[in-house]
Parts: sequence; structure tokens; C-alpha cells
Amino acid sequence: MDIVARPSEPTENPKMADAAPAPHAPQVIRREDYQAPAWLVPDIALEFALGLELTHVTARLSVRRNAEGNGGATLRLNGDQITPLAVRVDGAAVNDWRLDGPDLLLPLTGDAHEVEIETQVNPAANSQLMGLYASHGMLCTQCEAEGFRRITFFPDRPDVLSTYRVRMSGDKATFPVLLSNGNCEAQGEGADGTHWAEWHDPWPKPCYLFALVAGDLVANHDTFTTMSGRKVDLNIWVRKGDEARTSHAMDSLKASMKWDEEAFGREYDLDLFNIVAVSDFNMGAMENKGLNVFNTRYVLADPETATDADYDAIEGVIGHEYFHNWSGNRVTCRDWFQLSLKEGFTVLRDQLFSADMGSPAVKRIEDVRVLRSAQYPEDSGPLAHPIRPDSYQEISNFYTATVYNKGAEVIRMMRTMAGPERFRAGTDLYFDRHDGEAATCEDFVNAIEEGAGLDLAQFRLWYAQAGTPQVSASAGHAGDSVTLKLTQTVPATPGQPAKQPMPIPLKLALFDRETGQHNGEELIILDKAEQTFTFKGYLRPPVLSINRGFSAPVAIDFERPVEDLVFLAANDDDPFARYEAMQSLIVRHLIAGVGGSLGERQRQADRAAIAQAFEAVLADESLDDLMRGELMILPAEGYLAEQFLVADPTAIHAEREALKAWLGRELKDRLTQLHDRVSAVPYSRDAAARGARKLKMQALIYLAAGAPEDAKRRAIAQYRQADNMTDRQGAVMVLAGLDGPERREALADFHDRYSGNALVLDKWFSLQAGSLHPDVLDHVRALAEHSDFTMSNPNRVRALYMALAMNAQAFHAASGEGYRMIGDLIRKLDPINPQTAARFVPSLGRWRRIEPRRAALMRAELERIAAEPSLSRDVLEQVTKSLD
Ligand code: ARG
Ligand code: ZN
Repeated sequence: MDIVARPSEPTENPKMADAAPAPHAPQVIRREDYQAPAWLVPDIALEFALGLELTHVTARLSVRRNAEGNGGATLRLNGDQITPLAVRVDGAAVNDWRLDGPDLLLPLTGDAHEVEIETQVNPAANSQLMGLYASHGMLCTQCEAEGFRRITFFPDRPDVLSTYRVRMSGDKATFPVLLSNGNCEAQGEGADGTHWAEWHDPWPKPCYLFALVAGDLVANHDTFTTMSGRKVDLNIWVRKGDEARTSHAMDSLKASMKWDEEAFGREYDLDLFNIVAVSDFNMGAMENKGLNVFNTRYVLADPETATDADYDAIEGVIGHEYFHNWSGNRVTCRDWFQLSLKEGFTVLRDQLFSADMGSPAVKRIEDVRVLRSAQYPEDSGPLAHPIRPDSYQEISNFYTATVYNKGAEVIRMMRTMAGPERFRAGTDLYFDRHDGEAATCEDFVNAIEEGAGLDLAQFRLWYAQAGTPQVSASAGHAGDSVTLKLTQTVPATPGQPAKQPMPIPLKLALFDRETGQHNGEELIILDKAEQTFTFKGYLRPPVLSINRGFSAPVAIDFERPVEDLVFLAANDDDPFARYEAMQSLIVRHLIAGVGGSLGERQRQADRAAIAQAFEAVLADESLDDLMRGELMILPAEGYLAEQFLVADPTAIHAEREALKAWLGRELKDRLTQLHDRVSAVPYSRDAAARGARKLKMQALIYLAAGAPEDAKRRAIAQYRQADNMTDRQGAVMVLAGLDGPERREALADFHDRYSGNALVLDKWFSLQAGSLHPDVLDHVRALAEHSDFTMSNPNRVRALYMALAMNAQAFHAASGEGYRMIGDLIRKLDPINPQTAARFVPSLGRWRRIEPRRAALMRAELERIAAEPSLSRDVLEQVTKSLD
């Protein structure tokens, strides 16, 4: 844990005696307290003497007093678990610095100085994976949000922009490749088998975008010619043996570069773009200027080891990080409260990119599914926060579905209201106006307002208010007019008891139920608590299709006859609305079932309507298989739980499984025919073949529930014949949920077949922890002792325990054992990797929305965590907020 290699005992250093102990009461950082930096650092030169266990760092900062800041004569440099070995000002050693907690305070007399500081770190002991750390013999960095201060003392805040010169030296055999941001300007050999390289990044950047990588890596090299004709060298660096699995990432990178030129007019601005894949990584990837660092799972793919979903995720994340070069790097954030400025916007950009690369309809449905299953629960729980939070204790806890995905939805609404062309004029103005600056969400809204010609005065509430707006709709018909009455309420969230109405853009269409046609889509804006809209020229009461394309991230409650939903599920020309009608049909049935208000006759009638809708989907020639597969996916348990004030997760699970089994039995012949048809499609990466594989999975899922023996036979055959990971994983997933020797055999074979492949072993862990098997908790307990399990690799930890936390049946076991296992994990992981540990707290934090007996068990588990003597700031913030 202690990453500081101390050259001298702390007590020998008189400065250390002054250092205040870390205060126990966590400090709350508030957005309203923002102050411009007192000192700027226009240039920094870093020198690294690299070693896995000891890296020596010399930082030379040119500091200049900021005319706009109101700091005194003291320069505050942030640190975290580092101590200064030497401090020099303008070339002379000084002794008048002191430590204030982790920070270094240095009195300075003039307006501009050169400050030089030496530090040492132990990358191999850095299990938090923030700052400079070692992974499989290589060195790499993660600085966002506040990791740079674990390398050297610096004003670690995104509004201090510097140009970087980085010189590194190290053993040539251990670190044959030496990388940093920008361009390599010089390299050479040193004494005793060492070598060195000097990098220079011409673009000023905040320190969270600094990166350094050193190790034994090989590159997949390619080039891209930008729209102005500049040739850019592209490298994807991986460990030896992995280079054959980088072609999809490279294709995605080139496609991203091209797409950003066309869709947003953004050209790449260096002659070199490096991506490095690392197996130990807290998040998905990081957009360091010119040197993106990626979790291996978002780089490596081939058909044998990666599923279609993995391929899509790689394309999306490569795009995301690349797009940050403009939305994040050229225009960065003033402070971390503005995180959604870069993340919300960049998620929107990666969503639009993936939509253009594949199926826009399917992509939109997938994005909404993520929002509903990950962000809605956040918005209705104890950790709810606006996309631009007002306060935080630990910023790492705010890399959330709210900041990212709801942030994207908020910007998407602006785009919907402006239309794509005017929106583009707004983003052009934004990039142009703020290039080279650290901007705010307010700057973004201003630019869109001006560039796109929108009035966003009231719309700004979307940045300030947390909670998912609830819209209720009721329609009336008289003469030839339709009246649509809409009301909105934004639920109370922690710290925000009362809310104001927000502008909610709703796309709608009114279908004639006889012709199946509508007169064109309209956009209405609901911006009051209650509003009535009138539509003329409808002699028959039409069928209303509302929130088409999911034009607003709200929950809509619309009482209407089942026939209308069946109609829309079969006829709506908006693919999202069609999906939504199917979902509503199922959601309302399952809710009634769980709530116990479903009579037997109604159950039969609902089931018949649902089966009819499924049959229509299976038979509809106008659908492609990717979309067909999408329409067959049942609403997630998490989303269903959201429909209740207090949910019984076991009852929800049972009701959903019962419907699945009934459909499996009822549609057995159709599903086996379907499985046969799609099984005959040979592997390729084209849409038709991917659609076939998606349906293969869906067919097996229903058959496994309704006709398990049949499904087992099919899954075994599918496993044996599989020539790709999508089919193989799908087959194992089905078998892992069923009992019998076939389960053990398939899992053993899968493990042996891929024993050298960490990413596939992650799947092996997840498949078991996420399975429908009744003994999941026993399986997880055994897997935690497996020789392939380790707490030091976040991917592996998530593979086992996130899968468990998402597996309602196991996690919510009546005994409370699932809660206990997640609680134990958090307590054990916190001292190793607090950032990843904190990610598991929200699953327990939802206790208020769970039936009382389980809620008490979940709460007790949180209290056990809270009782730990020295929790990280990360876990402490999440746990205390969850108990409040
Ligand atoms: N900016 C990165 C991204 O593209 C996420 C990095 C967050 N890292 C962290 N340690 N919190 O989304
Ligand atoms: Zn991002």
C-alpha cells in the first residue's frame, strides 16, 4: 500500500513531524467554492529514472503567479503518499517548505520561479493503480482524476495547463519501449545497459492527461491521413503474443478518426497516436494526450476469444477515448464538478459513432437499456447526484452512469431540440471558442444556445437537479381532436427535497389504428408541471406513440389498453418505440404478477398478448435479426425493481423466470426452428451473421427456461461446434444455469481451453457467478479460492463479484449470504484498491428500496463496513451516504 520508498526514516526529517495526521472527518469539496489557481505552471520538465520497485522523479516546474488568482505568497503543491527528497527554487536548495497533510507548501517571494522537486515511488507496491504502477513487468500511469500527485508534487487540478517535456531512462532489457505524451524528440543509449528517451507534447494540458509507459511491448503499426492531408503514425502496443488480436481495435481507431472529421469537423493534432493495453486497470480506458492507456478488454479481440458484444465495446471505447482528444483534451474541464462537460459529451459522441458504424436502432435501444439498468437506480438511490454535482468527498466516486450516460442524454436532448445541423453549429462554436481552455458546463450550454439558436434558460435545470422525471400521460378524444394531458414531477433526492419542472422534449406520433399510419412525427416540449396538448384532425381515437427514440430520459406512466401496446409492438415505425411497446407490455404484466394483483384470467390474457407480440416479431420479414434479437430481450430485473417503491427482488426474479419459461414452452417449436435456422449461418462479422448469433442466444435462453432438456442438448452441440466466442459463451451460459454433469464438463473444458487467456478466464468466472444455478453462492465461494482468482486484478475481481452483485437471485438470497460476500469483499479490497472497492457499495446501498427483511440485512452489512477503523475516503463516502 505504501508506495513511498523512503530514503530516510520519517522521524529524521523534521518536516514530517509537522505533517498533520489525515483528518478523520472527511473533507467536503464544494462547487461553489471554486477559486482560480493562485499559481500557474506554464511548463514542466519531468525526469524519470525508471525501476519497477524504485522510480526516481525530478520535476522542474516553471511557476508564475496567476493575475486572476488571489493566492498569497505560498505555492501549494498537492501530494499523496509521497515525500520530497529535495526542493530547489531557482536552482538553490531551500528548506523553508512544509507539509500540510499530504500537500507541500512552499513560500515564494517573486512572481515567477523555477521550482525543482525530487520524489521517489515504488510502482510495484502501488496496488491502487493510481499514479505510476507496475503491471506484468511494465510501468504505466493513471492520473485522472488525482493520480499525478502520487508521482510528484503539483497543483493537481484540471485548470492548470502546462506543456510537458519528459525524459526517462531505464534498463533497456526491462523497458525496451519508452513512451509518453506528444512526440519522441530524442533517444539514446546510456551506461550499463540503460537507454533513454525524451518526449515533448506541444499542447498544454492538465496533469491528469500526463502518461508514461515503459515496458517490453510490441506494436501493431498503421497510419491515418487526416482531412488536411497530414500523415499520423498509429501504434497499438501490447504484450508479445497479443498483437494478432489488435486488428479490430486498429480498424476502430481509424474509423473514429475519420468519423470525427466528418461528424464534428475535428482533426487529429499530433503526428503520432499511441494506444497501450494493460491488464491491470481500474476503469475502461484513459484519454491521455497522444498516449491512450486501455484496459486490455477494450483492445484485444479475435473471433475465438471475443464475443460480438466485446467487439462492439472495443469500437465504442476506442472511439470514446479518441473523441476525448477534442472533447476533454483540447477543451478540458475547469474543475471536477464539470466532469460531464467532457464525459457526457464524449459518451454522446461515441454513441453517435457506434450508431453510424452499425445499426442506429439497435444502438439506441442498447444505450437506453444501460441507462435504465445502471443510471435510473443511481438516480433513485442514496447516491443520486445531478450530472454536474454540487459537492464530493472523493471525485473517483463520481465517474458514474449519471455523469456519463445521463450526461449524454442531456446533451442529446439539446441536439434533438436543435436538429443535427444547428447542434453542429453549436459544437463548432464551443470548440472554437474554448480551444486550449479549461471550460465549464455553463460554457458548453452558452455555446449551444448561441450556435444552435436555442433558449436553454430553463433547460439548465437538467444540470442542477438529480432524479429521473416522472411523466404521466392521459389522452382524451372528442370530435376530431385529441387532447393529451401530461404532468411531470422530479422526485426528491438527497439534498434536493423540492424540484422545479424541467423542459422535456417528447417526440410523438398518432397512429390511425385502421390504416396503421401516422401523419408525421412531432416534437412537443413539456416544460410545466402540468400541460395539455391538442391535436386536430383525428376522427377516430388514435394510438399514441410517445417519447419516440427515447427523446427524453424520463419515466412515462401511461394507462392504456393492452391492444394499443400490441398495436405499437407490431406497427410502430420508430424502432425504439416498438421495443418500448413490447417492454411495457411485459413490464406491466410482471409488475401485476409480483404485486399479486394478477387474476388467473388476466394472467392468461396478458400471456396471450405477449406471445402474440413475440410471434409477430419472429415472423416480421421487415426486421433484421439484430433488431429481432433486441425485441426478444426481457426487461432487466434492476429496471423492474425500479417500478416498485419497495421491491422484492426474489419475487421479481421468479415472476420473470416464470414468464420466460412459459414463453419457452408456448413458442418451443418456433424457437427450435429459429435456433436451427440461425445455427446454419456461418461465422462472419457482418450484421446478418451477428444477428444470427444474437438470436441463437435468445432462442437458447427461452428454451433453457421452458424446455431445459432440449436446451441442454442444443447447448452441448452448440458448444462443440462453436468456432467463435459468442456461440461458445452462450452455450456455457445456458449450461452453467442447468444441473448435471454437462455443466461441469463444459466449464472444465472452457477453462482448460483458455487457461492462458486472462480475458476469457474473466468470462469463465462471470458465467458462474452470474448463472441461474441455485448454488451460485457456493460456486462463488469456491471460485474465490481458485488459483486463478486474485484480488490485485480489477477485471478478475469484477468478473467474479460484480457478476454476483448483479445476480439478483444469489445476491438477494434470503439468508443474507450474498450481501455478506459483497460486504466481505469491500472490506478486504479497500486496503488494496479503494477505487474498485467503492464500486461495490451501491449494490448494498439500495436497501431502502428493498423489502424490510432484506433491507435490514443489507443495512447491517453497510454498518459492518462503516465500523472498519481505517476506510478509504472512497468507500467511506459511499457507505456513509448509503446509511444516511
Ligand atoms: N476519462 C476516462 C474515460 O474516458 C475515465 C478515467 C477515470 N479514471 C478514474 N480513475 N476515475 O472515461
Ligand atoms: Zn471518458
